[in-house]
Amino acid sequence: MVKFRKSRATQFIRFTFGALILIHATTLTLAAEPDPTGRRLYATCAACHGTDGRPERGGSLSALAGQSKESLTAAMQAFKTGTRNATIMHQIAKGYTDEQIELIAGYLAGLNKPESK
Ligand code: HEC
Repeated sequence: MVKFRKSRATQFIRFTFGALILIHATTLTLAAEPDPTGRRLYATCAACHGTDGRPERGGSLSALAGQSKESLTAAMQAFKTGTRNATIMHQIAKGYTDEQIELIAGYLAGLNKPESK
């Protein structure tokens, strides 16, 4: 049997493609963001609670950004079930499933707390 020796060109091409695939895979991994669903769901809340959970300065609402996921979820559940009195949130909270509440709370908890307020 004739022993086939790979040419240098073939070796070079194999190496280059291998390296490219590796770089590509690394880039994809680095670009992977956390689930964006929570952020999307939060869009409807932003009208009152501000972009990224930071309300207008001087308003009466406290910042949702940076509160713990547990306390945000608990607040939403309390509004939903009616154990916490509200002017509007009891109606809004009813429109979300437990899973959606978790996703929104997770998104907000991952944000930095605003410096003041
Ligand atoms: C129409 C304005 C409005 C919208 C829209 C709104 N909220 Fe609220 N939110 C309020 C008000 C006002 C309060 C204070 C409680 C009340 O009176 O209902 C509040 C309170 C809260 C609280 C308790 C905050 C704390 O620090 O105790 C949480 C959590 C909250 N909202 C989450 C949300 C989420 C999540 C959404 C979107 C799904 C949302 N809100 C949409 C007006 C709004």
